[in-house]
Amino acid sequence: MPSILIVGNITKDVYLRLDNRINNFETDQNGVKWLDIAFDNTRHHYYSRVSIYGGASISLEVLSRFGINASISGTPATFLDGQFIAKDIHTTYRYILCQDENTSHLVPSDEVYTSWQVPENNPDWIYLDSSAVISPKLATEILDFLNLSRNTKLALFVGRHANQNTSHIQALIERANLIINSVPLEKTVNNNVYIGNDRIEYQGRRVFWTLSNKRDILTRLSVHLTIAASVLGALALGKEPGEALLLARANAENSKLSSTLNLSTLEKNIADDYYRVQKINEKGESMSEIENTAAKLMTPGKGILAADESGGSIHKKFETMGIPDDEQHRRDYRNIFFTTPDLEKYVSGVILFDETARQTADNGKLFVDYLQERGVIPGIKVDQGLVNFENSDEKYTQGLDDLPTRLKEYYDMGARFAKWRAAFEVTDHSPSNLAISKNCEILANYAHDCQNANIVPIVEPELVYDGNYSIEQNIEYTGKILDCLFDELEKKQINLAGCILKVNMVLAGKQQSIQSTPAEVGRATAQVLREHVPRNLAGVVFLSGGQSVTQATENLQAVTNNGPFPWAVTFSYARALQDPALQAWRGDNNNADAAREAFKARLIANTEALKVKQDAYQTE
Ligand code: 13P
Repeated sequence: MPSILIVGNITKDVYLRLDNRINNFETDQNGVKWLDIAFDNTRHHYYSRVSIYGGASISLEVLSRFGINASISGTPATFLDGQFIAKDIHTTYRYILCQDENTSHLVPSDEVYTSWQVPENNPDWIYLDSSAVISPKLATEILDFLNLSRNTKLALFVGRHANQNTSHIQALIERANLIINSVPLEKTVNNNVYIGNDRIEYQGRRVFWTLSNKRDILTRLSVHLTIAASVLGALALGKEPGEALLLARANAENSKLSSTLNLSTLEKNIADDYYRVQKINEKGESMSEIENTAAKLMTPGKGILAADESGGSIHKKFETMGIPDDEQHRRDYRNIFFTTPDLEKYVSGVILFDETARQTADNGKLFVDYLQERGVIPGIKVDQGLVNFENSDEKYTQGLDDLPTRLKEYYDMGARFAKWRAAFEVTDHSPSNLAISKNCEILANYAHDCQNANIVPIVEPELVYDGNYSIEQNIEYTGKILDCLFDELEKKQINLAGCILKVNMVLAGKQQSIQSTPAEVGRATAQVLREHVPRNLAGVVFLSGGQSVTQATENLQAVTNNGPFPWAVTFSYARALQDPALQAWRGDNNNADAAREAFKARLIANTEALKVKQDAYQTE
């Protein structure tokens, strides 16, 4: 078992959730709100208070849960049997203020220089974590020790507080075997783990991470500590760089405040994740822009909103509600979705229709730019609808002719992914082999053009829900279509790590008298995907296809419960996300806020359905 001696400060973190009511704040003449918080007997305006150990104690906990023999220099603190034991230790208090979902922290007392005590046994690693306040004296003591104990490695966290221009920090950087940095390094090194706002990189590997949808109030500081200690622990145990990053991400994304995960739990969590590690070059650039985009689109916990109804589809939608189908109403309708508060927490991308991509948000910015600024990737529907095969009622999708030119324009406008839908209806004579092979060939041509234009293709073969067929028939047809599709994609040498599949869930047709239960849908969908989708695909997203709003969510939950899968899996609904908002809006912008709320409720419900729920729709 490797041993790691942590050098850092244990803090006592007091989390204060602030009451959001306006009268608890004072407003100055510039309209800026201030909270007067005094650390004496004043009555404070908070409504919950959690106090936990933070700083170096987090490093200790993470490393101990990795099975590493870890201790903190100069303190008797230990982590034993899942408990942090800290008697008679010196701590600095940090107050972490949380208002809504924002947190910031303040340290009322002076920060204390970290102290060092020469260990009795030479550890395998010394780890100066981000809680360490490094004085020149501390740096010299550690470097002196390392001179005597040559086999001991040094890991150093370089954060905002470590001044890289001072000679003692420079000396540590030079000696370090591993540097973990959350800020850019002034000098290039080749042994650093970079923790960015949305990514972790190490040795030519990159994973994206996110904290959205976490109910726990973890500060970025403690998340960085968790990530850093996880990477160090994994590397000390001899794990591969990519695996170390995945373990770190899983720990950051799934840990609770003051309770990180055991190595065995994390290993289960990442079992099928390896494809999601990207390869990056020496400059930290992704080897491929499309792989990068696809990984971002498949950010765990988020979905993709389909708002790309073509003229005909939106016309039908509006007509049933008596809403005038003109450009202004179509703009106003889309504007509701794109301006919904917190959209970026629930969706990674939005698929637009050509007309919408050229329209502007309320603030006068093009929707494409507006979405980008919110951190949502704009995508574009590029197929041009369905036409009949000659002498047949089956259809193929058109739009390949000028596709490269259009893709170039869309890329220049800011679109980074595209969608192309092929539809297969089930009758006594369809889908035929001809319709399947022709549509899959077209999908592969489309995917090829997209990747040439640095645009991620979403390939969408849809077995139409509206039909009279059994779930067994769906298993057969969807499997057959997917086999053909991936054969065609391979022929065209499509890079699957930069490609996303959008597909129907596997269920009985809408006209069957007995509808599939969520448990059946979850099981059948998981089975078909596992048997027919290659492991190196970037991700799988589902269309809702005319399922009811709640059905689409319940079935998604059931699919989630049948995971984990080799690829990320999420929702990309149009109707099941939009319909309640359309009902609320009814073409009247006075109802826009109610519509936004209705939409947000679906976003919350569906992102919740991406989390495994023990008691819902288990595999039998
Ligand atoms: P539905 O979720 O309404 O099926 O739409 C998804 C989509 O993009 C169909 O092409």
